[in-house]
Amino acid sequence: MNMVLKSIAAVLLAGISFLSFGQKAAQLPDDFLSTEFHQERRDLLREKMPENSVAVFFANPVRNRANDVDYMYHQDPNFYYLTGHREPHAVLLIFKDEQVVTDYAFDELIFVRKHDALKELYDGARLGKEGAVDKLKFELAFEGPDFEDFNIDFSTFDKVLFYDFKEDVRDTKEEADLFDLIAAFKEKVNYGEDAMAINAEPKASNLDTKSLDELMKSLRGIKTKEEISLIRKAVDISTMGQREVMKAMKPGMSEQEIQGLHEFVFKKYQAEFEGYPSIVGAGHNGCVLHYIDNYKPAIEDGELILMDLGAEYHGYTADVTRTIPVNGKFTKEQKLIYDLVYEAQEAGRAACKPGATFKDVYAATAKVVNEGLVELGLYASTEEEDMINPETGRNRYYPHGCCHHIGLDVHDKGDYAELKENMVITIEPGIYIPEGSPCDEKWWGIPVRIEDDFLITKEGCELLSDLAPRKSEEIEALMKESSPLDNFILPSLEDE
Ligand code: GLY
Ligand code: MN
Ligand code: MN
Repeated sequence: MNMVLKSIAAVLLAGISFLSFGQKAAQLPDDFLSTEFHQERRDLLREKMPENSVAVFFANPVRNRANDVDYMYHQDPNFYYLTGHREPHAVLLIFKDEQVVTDYAFDELIFVRKHDALKELYDGARLGKEGAVDKLKFELAFEGPDFEDFNIDFSTFDKVLFYDFKEDVRDTKEEADLFDLIAAFKEKVNYGEDAMAINAEPKASNLDTKSLDELMKSLRGIKTKEEISLIRKAVDISTMGQREVMKAMKPGMSEQEIQGLHEFVFKKYQAEFEGYPSIVGAGHNGCVLHYIDNYKPAIEDGELILMDLGAEYHGYTADVTRTIPVNGKFTKEQKLIYDLVYEAQEAGRAACKPGATFKDVYAATAKVVNEGLVELGLYASTEEEDMINPETGRNRYYPHGCCHHIGLDVHDKGDYAELKENMVITIEPGIYIPEGSPCDEKWWGIPVRIEDDFLITKEGCELLSDLAPRKSEEIEALMKESSPLDNFILPSLEDE
């Protein structure tokens, strides 16, 4: 019996044997993406693939934190999007055309981890190939070691589409781990320095490491109803975190404590992860765009605190930033800068509709910021050379872009030219004035970013993150409310 047939027989016999022993699968919430969603996505990808091609996807590597401890596993977003599989050491093959091997026909195959009673005792039940058939609804599923023996001839395809390897996968010594699966694939397709050198000449090789990302962008950039409902949930959770922190905030709290409050709210609503490391920066720390140390032990009365955090709910992440006065009241200068950023965000929002470009939205925000900073006296004119940071080509106080897709990645895949209905994007203008900036000292140490998540609709856009106030007056009003955390006072660990 050849390898394919042996494995098919095994799949057909599976089911029963693993129902009767081993670890029970963990109880999962029932509002994950449906299997139909993943099946439909695979079909849509197949439609977009070139003639006589195969697309090959690998699961994300397990990342080691130190010694015996790994980071929490997070699936590769493309792999998750196409399968719903949340375990490591797996390969997915999608064929443009039906493949016929003896009596079997298939146009997709998945290879997943073998069962291992001892490992499952520690880490919980594995899906197994029978689970891939039963739960993920693949007609044919195999185990990792089968991939190594799998006698597919990749040279018969006009194109073998895959993401090029980053060479950062550890050999874990487990049978058919990702390291082995990649090595087996490389051997099968004759990948290597020579093969990739040949690939530089498109006609000389069928290996294509460029096109797949374009296809995935075209799919993932436009969200389905199911995806939008998970994004709404992630955004609601994130904005609830912002609301609760606004009520609980007091001078003297630490940046980590504030981070912990947001993340506690995320967990309270069953969000599995943060979509990216939480950014909580008071005063000057907020001027560091991706400040994630969050070390300041006691935030000071009179400071602004910038909080950029996103809950990840069943794979989908929000990306929401609020900047608030630690003591509940903006100073005159803080309010002037805050309101300018708000106005810039509103200008971006007004420009945000199908047919407009990402550049249009950025330009609308930058115009408000540039003109506003002149009006406030931080620059003499919008023509002032010093306004532009030569490294970014942007206003030195507004050094970043203002929009990106969100979804399974916080900076999600998608087309970054024209806005289309059912894209979900951020609009996130900011002004950051670090200590020592060439302007009046009264502005120093003011960081403001306002970041919200928007669904592009037929006519314009819908603000998804409106649960957390954005206007300076609304923030001040909410900060006056009491918090359930006002009485959450822990004993000191210092000797009195
Ligand atoms: N939180 C990262 C960003 O706003 O892009
Ligand atoms: Mn963002
Ligand atoms: Mn953000």
